[in-house]
Amino acid sequence: MTAEPPEHARSVEQLKEAALSCRGCELWANATQTVFGEGRESSKLMLVGEQPGDQEDLQGKPFVGPAGRLLEKGLEEAGIDRRRVYVTNAVKHFRWTRRGKRRLHEKPNAGQVRACRPWLEAEIEVVKPQVIVLLGATAAQSVMGPAFRVSKQRGEVLSSPFGVPVLATVHPSSILRATDEESRDAALAAFIADLKVAARHA
Ligand code: URA
Repeated sequence: MTAEPPEHARSVEQLKEAALSCRGCELWANATQTVFGEGRESSKLMLVGEQPGDQEDLQGKPFVGPAGRLLEKGLEEAGIDRRRVYVTNAVKHFRWTRRGKRRLHEKPNAGQVRACRPWLEAEIEVVKPQVIVLLGATAAQSVMGPAFRVSKQRGEVLSSPFGVPVLATVHPSSILRATDEESRDAALAAFIADLKVAARHA
């Protein structure tokens, strides 16, 4: 079974097809399907999240649940058309635990993130974005290494080991978790400001 992307893949479709049978870590066993990245292959802007959530796992598409709706709102307010960006995740399978009838999100561990990194690297090679937005700590640490702290370097355009400039910001779910309207509005405004900086480099 596949554990690594094909060398020198020519299209996202080719990668997506190969990733369907990835057994590079154990997460495939409890997931409905591999959720690969999506969007225009010529996108100048790439966005990387953590892993698919419940809705993404069921629908097979990244960022289609509540975090996706918030992301879409942020992009729109930053003047970025979602149809013109490539959206993916650091980990391509949903990691979850059962709580009654619900499937609760569980953060992927370092080994799972490492196992999935070659797929992200292959996507970057095919799409060749001009800038990559890293949404939250998992995406940021997958690309920039475990010592990277979003809280210290968010909103800055930095060089990355992939040779493509990156900008780290918060994950849209963290904005959804804000406990009152005022802090949610402030978090959303800061997120939009980060997206605008990235858009200027794309
Ligand atoms: N959160 C993510 O990081 N990615 C998704 O695709 C959905 C929610």
